[in-house]
Amino acid sequence: MPPLVSGPLPKIGAGLRMLRDPTDFFYSARAEHGDTYAVDCFGYRLLCVFSPEGVKNLWAVPEEQASKGLADYALLRHKVPDELFAGRRTRPHDLFRSDDTASYLANLERALDDQIEEMGRQGSAELFALTRRIGHRLGLASWGGVVGECAKYLDRLIPALDRLDAADSFVHPHHGLWAMVTRKSAARRAIRELDKVFGEVIEAREREGLDPDDLFARICASWSDVEGDARKQGIARDIVLIHMGSMSNLFAALAWTLVHLLERPEIQERARHDSDLLDRVTFETIRLRQRSIVLRQCLQPTELADEKTVYRASPGVFLTTMMSVTNTTALPDLDGFDPGHFHGPRFKRVEELPAKELVTTFGHGRHACPAQVFSIAAIRRTVERLLGHYTFTRKFRDPQPLRRQLGGVARADRPCRVDYRLR
Ligand code: HEM
Repeated sequence: MPPLVSGPLPKIGAGLRMLRDPTDFFYSARAEHGDTYAVDCFGYRLLCVFSPEGVKNLWAVPEEQASKGLADYALLRHKVPDELFAGRRTRPHDLFRSDDTASYLANLERALDDQIEEMGRQGSAELFALTRRIGHRLGLASWGGVVGECAKYLDRLIPALDRLDAADSFVHPHHGLWAMVTRKSAARRAIRELDKVFGEVIEAREREGLDPDDLFARICASWSDVEGDARKQGIARDIVLIHMGSMSNLFAALAWTLVHLLERPEIQERARHDSDLLDRVTFETIRLRQRSIVLRQCLQPTELADEKTVYRASPGVFLTTMMSVTNTTALPDLDGFDPGHFHGPRFKRVEELPAKELVTTFGHGRHACPAQVFSIAAIRRTVERLLGHYTFTRKFRDPQPLRRQLGGVARADRPCRVDYRLR
């Protein structure tokens, strides 16, 4: 048994301390107990590893042994009702096959046209809200069938999706407690609204005739053996689950990329005409703003070794590390922003690392993000279009990652307001 971090109340353990500031919690526990320790929180047991050997071995554990899918579900189910997960036929993993990325990027151009038209010649905006709206437009056009005439449904879909927002379970983990008290009633209302509005979208799109290559059409086809409202509900919930997955990281990484560029006018000016530099800024932004917890829930007794000991974790235990701790401490001088750390997707100091898994942007091995190429292209294109069209004036100072966040790319701890006007 490694050192155990817990608390006076057995059901809660170290849970409340962890919820206050998870990154600081894991960081401080490591300073006190060493690179490997166990944590009890809210009835869960975590086996936490931070040493090179421990982290490398954690990323290599097969899904059949210790599952990422089950661990994600454990995190999300505090906020999202079970009926959204049950019976899904299309999952986020199915989004990046063959040439789908090209069609998503075409939708991105249209989403940006619409966004720029809505923004007009000048105005003000909050960067995370702006990029979130672009993310909704892009995703709902790419897999939600919300194109052409159906764009009129956006104003009903976006508020309902934001109320359901699965990412809330790791961005504001303490909200999970409120969701439990209220039996997730707000999320359930949002699901009913989404069933209804997507039902109308499906009818409208089917009247027009579907493009069979479209992902939306493929989702509809996968429900062809079901009829009536059950079919529409199945399609709607497939779309909602995929869309929520897509909204976990991308819009926040895009917003931080803009933040970092607006804070550095000289890099901004060069990056507007140099897409390699822009990609380096994006990868460095993701490295620095990662708040992802890596969680795998053991399905069977599982061995995890660090440099000194082989630990045996029982079924139910979560194998854990935290990217926000290792990404900034694995080598000296990793706590500051420097796009020179990357050459394309490659972290240039990887040879200095005792294990390459100690720095991560899009993950490693079998669970690495299937959306990496798409996400980098989407951020590049959006930044090019927004900075090409407008001059932005920064109205914020020194935003930092939201302290309570326990997963995904950080949200900001304060509004990041900007004024903009046509170039
Ligand atoms: C900048 C944007 C993004 C970042 C930084 C990012 C990061 C990551 C990371 C670190 C993982 C691995 C997590 C782990 O192993 O515990 C992951 C997995 C995944 N991501 Fe992303 N992601 C991004 C965008 C997206 C988008 C837009 C989608 C979908 C539309 C997506 C879908 C997925 C899926 C399905 C997995 C799970 C893969 C598996 O389990 O095999 N990601 N992502």
